[in-house]
Amino acid sequence: MRPWTNKSLGFGILGLFLVALGISICFLWPIFFHHIIQKGLALSPTSNSFKIWYDTSELPPMFLEVYLFNWTNPEELGKEKPHYDQIGPYCFREVRQKDNITFHHENKTVSYFQRRLWYFDAERSNGTLNDTVSQLDVVAASAAHKIRFWHYDFQNSLSFLLSNKKLFTIKTVDELLFTGYTDNILALGKMMMQDSEIPTFDRFGWFYMRNGSTMFDGHFNMETGEDDISQLGILRKWNYKDTTKFYKTPCNLIEGSAGEFWPPGRTKDDIILFSSDLCRPLVYEYEETTSHFDIEGYRYAIGGKTLGNSTRRRYPHDQAKFFEPTTTTEDFFVAEHTTVFEPTATTFNNNYSSENTDEYLNNDPDVINMGNCYCNGECTPSGLLNITACRYGAPVFISLPHFYKADPTVLDAIDGLSPNEDHSFSITLEPITGIPLEVSAVFQVNIHLHSSEIIELFHKVPNIYMPMLWFKLKVEITEEMASNLRMLLALPTMMLCSSIVMIIVGLCLIAGMVLRYFGKKRHMPSTEVTMEKMIDNSDCEKKAEMVYMDKTSNNEDSNIKTDRRLYAKQ
Ligand SMILES: *[C@@H]1O[C@H](CO)[C@@H](O)[C@H](O)[C@H]1NC(C)=O
Ligand SMILES: *[C@@H]1O[C@H](CO)[C@@H](O)[C@H](O)[C@H]1NC(C)=O
Ligand SMILES: *[C@@H]1O[C@H](CO)[C@@H](O)[C@H](O)[C@H]1NC(C)=O
Ligand SMILES: *[C@@H]1O[C@H](CO)[C@@H](O)[C@H](O)[C@H]1NC(C)=O
Ligand SMILES: *[C@@H]1O[C@H](CO)[C@@H](O)[C@H](O)[C@H]1NC(C)=O
Ligand SMILES: *[C@@H]1O[C@H](CO)[C@@H](O)[C@H](O)[C@H]1NC(C)=O
Repeated sequence: MRPWTNKSLGFGILGLFLVALGISICFLWPIFFHHIIQKGLALSPTSNSFKIWYDTSELPPMFLEVYLFNWTNPEELGKEKPHYDQIGPYCFREVRQKDNITFHHENKTVSYFQRRLWYFDAERSNGTLNDTVSQLDVVAASAAHKIRFWHYDFQNSLSFLLSNKKLFTIKTVDELLFTGYTDNILALGKMMMQDSEIPTFDRFGWFYMRNGSTMFDGHFNMETGEDDISQLGILRKWNYKDTTKFYKTPCNLIEGSAGEFWPPGRTKDDIILFSSDLCRPLVYEYEETTSHFDIEGYRYAIGGKTLGNSTRRRYPHDQAKFFEPTTTTEDFFVAEHTTVFEPTATTFNNNYSSENTDEYLNNDPDVINMGNCYCNGECTPSGLLNITACRYGAPVFISLPHFYKADPTVLDAIDGLSPNEDHSFSITLEPITGIPLEVSAVFQVNIHLHSSEIIELFHKVPNIYMPMLWFKLKVEITEEMASNLRMLLALPTMMLCSSIVMIIVGLCLIAGMVLRYFGKKRHMPSTEVTMEKMIDNSDCEKKAEMVYMDKTSNNEDSNIKTDRRLYAKQ
């Protein structure tokens, strides 16, 4: 073995090893990272996300802010525009819990009920729960609306029942929201609806009985992302079905995320969320890229595709026609239900083709008018979502607060509202992991008021959408969660940098070894020659000379030096 090999070869091998490691990290890391994401984000009883998904009470609190509209001139209805003062916010800490959780490994889904609890937070509120508010009498308006196609006698009796009533009620905030208030019409309704599957209540309140109950949000069946992380959080069934009975096919499909989990690898394409409060999916459109605690996120907001009344969307109808037909629970749903799609498309084309210039969309049987399938005959101006069916016949219409992004005529009909960007419903997702950075869920509840020929109380009322209340649930990632997420997101760059450093160091070591090898090759023959000479030569002086020469040579290898020295002393 040549003396120089020991160390240099060691460095060379180390170099090779580093290069190999660097390259493999470079190529294997993405797979490994994918694995981390797959395991880390998928929902399982042992995953990190499970605990906070199961019960949010350990998390930093989220607050539901409720604003009510105080109708200040109810006596003047018909003579002047209704005027509203916004009051609030009334702030409630919201806690979400899951109940009856069952993981189904056979189809990678989880089934559960959801429970929501609200705790009043007086400090954050602007007002108390005992504040009095004047609002449209929702019970009377709903009853009149509900029976508007019923027999004359029914409507006449309702007219009699309502004869000593006013169009508005003055209640406390607590009554309107949680405690509810009684009304003899409710009792009557309960009696009449006894046999139907429509839930009836003895009191009315927007959140009456909902606090702590699992009965309202329904039963969910959601993808866990166990084998395919791109499915994470997608709602597969709601109330044990993959369609709802509330809207026409195919708008009755259960689709989109259940709202809490979003698959990683977000693009700027639309995202869909299924809202159990509205019984329908909502489409969010990419708006901008924003930053929360230095983490970039894509902000998606509700816009024209959800709020418009003639939004066209492509549906996979080959599948849709195999879904069970839409069934409705109430007689007044006069719509004919289409199980096969084509006829609907044709009707729609005939009716609306003049409206739309996009021939391609019009002629594609898989593209349908979404606005059209949420209304039966009469449609709403854009900006209002008709959830009458989802509310068992009460004329409830959802919009963004203050009719933001809605048809100006809706806002024009009333006084006192002023829409702005704060009234936007948005979700911000971190694109690589799909983790929500911020959610601002806002909705305004409106009641459609319209005149009735028979019911006296509603003889002369204008056709108007009356705002009742709006709420905002804002959840934002905390500084601590953000720093963890930043670390995770920095991993790929860190790994890439370290693998590049490894490759460079490795290459340097190899290059060093190679250089030395060739350097040695040039030096070696001359040394050998001198050594031979030394051995041949018997003259002591010459030996000493040789030793001296050797000492002056630049050879750093101490082994050789010692050899020489020993040899010279002999
Ligand atoms: C709402 O309006 C009514 C009548 O105009 C008034 O008496 C009441 O004080 C108002 N409520 C609040 C909370 O301002
Ligand atoms: C509190 O409510 C009053 C009227 O109800 C309103 O004038 C005021 O701006 C509100 N304050 C905040 C901080 O919202
Ligand atoms: C909701 O229920 C919880 C627990 O039962 C209770 O502590 C809380 O006060 C209730 N919230 C409201 C607004 O009634
Ligand atoms: C998955 O399996 C469970 C149990 O068999 C079932 O209840 C659920 O509906 C299934 N989900 C889907 C999407 O098929
Ligand atoms: C709202 O939807 C219900 C049920 O689908 C329908 O009967 C009603 O005509 C719709 N109203 C408007 C104004 O679109
Ligand atoms: C759809 O909305 C537009 C704008 O708000 C309105 O002019 C139009 O009448 C609506 N269409 C229907 C069918 O109601």
